[in-house]
Amino acid sequence: NIYTDYFFDDPVFDTKGDSYFPLEQADSPQNPLAIPPILVPDSESDLYTTYTITSQEGETAILPGKKTKTWGYNASLLGTTVILERGKTYGVSLKNELPETTTYHWHGLNVSGPETDGGPHAPVKPQETREIEFTVNQPASTAWLHPHPCPDTAEQVWKGLAAMVIIKDEQESKLALPRDYGIDDLPIVLQDRSYHDNQLDYQKDYNVDGTLGKLPLINGTVNAYFDVTTQQLRLRLLNGANRREFRLHFSDDLPFSQIASDGGILPEPITFTHLMLTCGERAEIIVDFKEYSVGEEVILYSDDRPLMTFRIGEFEKNQWTVPEKLIEVEPLKITDSTKLEETVMSGMKDFVKIDDKIFDMKRMDKQQNMGETQIWDVSNINPADVGMIHPFHIHGTQFQVISRNGQPPYANERGWKDTVGVNAQETVRIAVKFDVPGIFMYHCHILEHEDTGMMAQIEVINTKK
Ligand code: C2O
Ligand code: CU
Ligand code: CU
Repeated sequence: NIYTDYFFDDPVFDTKGDSYFPLEQADSPQNPLAIPPILVPDSESDLYTTYTITSQEGETAILPGKKTKTWGYNASLLGTTVILERGKTYGVSLKNELPETTTYHWHGLNVSGPETDGGPHAPVKPQETREIEFTVNQPASTAWLHPHPCPDTAEQVWKGLAAMVIIKDEQESKLALPRDYGIDDLPIVLQDRSYHDNQLDYQKDYNVDGTLGKLPLINGTVNAYFDVTTQQLRLRLLNGANRREFRLHFSDDLPFSQIASDGGILPEPITFTHLMLTCGERAEIIVDFKEYSVGEEVILYSDDRPLMTFRIGEFEKNQWTVPEKLIEVEPLKITDSTKLEETVMSGMKDFVKIDDKIFDMKRMDKQQNMGETQIWDVSNINPADVGMIHPFHIHGTQFQVISRNGQPPYANERGWKDTVGVNAQETVRIAVKFDVPGIFMYHCHILEHEDTGMMAQIEVINTKK
C-alpha cells in the first residue's frame, strides 16, 4: 500500500493564509550538505557520560559573499548532534555565551520538569552555566534541543539555535536499518530563512502568525547536495522551521518509507510518495535508490520548490530490505474510568489562546499524576476555510494518537508522538501518560504562536515520593 496524498486537510494548508509566501530558489551555487559533527563527551563510562553544551554566537558562510551572523550549540549554526543511549545517565553542563538569557529545551525527551526539561522556568543568564542530570528511559528516536525562553523562543531559533538528538537502544540496533551517521543515516533539519545583505533580521521578517523565510535551508545549507554512496539512506527529518509546513516529495515521485515518528520506531514501515511535517515534528524515512545509477540525481522538494539534491554515486546492492515488521508499540491502557481532559486552541494573529487564555508562567493550567493515563481531546476551533493547522506539542512525554474527529489517526501516527498537527475544526484525541514529574509546557509549535501566548502548563505530580 503506497499513500500518495498528504494526510492533512488541504483547505487549511498554510499556503492559503494571507501572510504566506512560498519558498524561492536561492541564487547561489550548490553546496555540500553540512553534516553536524557528533558532540564529543567530556567524560564517558558505561553508565555515566558528561557533556558540555554551549550556546554561542558565530559566523557562518551561507550565501556567497559576506558571512552571516548566527547562533548555535557548540557550533556557529544549529549545533553538534547529541547521541544518547537508553539506560545511561548523563550529566550535562549548559553554558550560555550569548548576550541574552536562554534555556535548553529537550524536545522529545522524557526528563523531569521544569529545570531539566529546559522550558521557560529554567533560564540560564549570559556567562552562566546550569548543571542538569537525567537518565534516558525511552525508545530509540530522533529528538532535538532548542531554546525556550518566553517570549523569545522564535527569535532565538531563527538566529540558529537547534541541535539534533539521537537516542539509541538495543531494540532499534537489532533492526536491519542504516545507522552509519553521515554516510547512510543523515540528520535533515528543514528550515527557511530570509537574508538582508546576507544577514538575518528577525524584526523585519517577523510575522505574528509565524515567521517565514524565503530560502529553504537543510542543516543550514542553501542549495544542498549529498553524494550518495549506499543503496539506501535513512533521513532523520526534523521540521525545525518557525512556521513553515514542509510537504515533501522526491523527483519521479520516488516512494519512501517512514520507519519512525517523533518518539520512536513505528510498528511497521509506512510507504508514501508525499509526506507533510508540521513544525516540531520528526519522521525517519528510508529512501531506496536501487532504480538509479551513477550520475543520476534525485531531488527532494517541498511543494514545488527543490530543497536539496541527492547525487547518485556507485553503491553496492543491499543484502537486506527494510523489515516488514519493526517493533511492537503497546497501546496505553484506556478504561471506563480514564479521565477525559479537553484542550482548545483558538485564534490567529495576536489572539492565539489555549482554553481561552494566554500563557501565564504563574498559572498552572492542568494537573496529572505521574503514571496515570488520561485522554486529551485537543481541538483547533479555527474556521475550516481560513484556519491554520496548529501543531500541538507536549513536553516531557510521548503520547499516542487515538483518533481525528472520531476517525482513525493517519497511517504514520500509530507510534509515539510528542507533536501532532491539528487541522481546523478538528479534535485530535490522544492518550497521555507522564513517567517523570514536574512542570511541563504544552503549546502550539508555530513558534510565534507559542511566544504570543498559545501555550499552557501542566504539573505532573510525583506519586512515588
Ligand atoms: Cu519544541 Cu516547547 O517545544
Ligand atoms: Cu518540547
Ligand atoms: Cu498555532
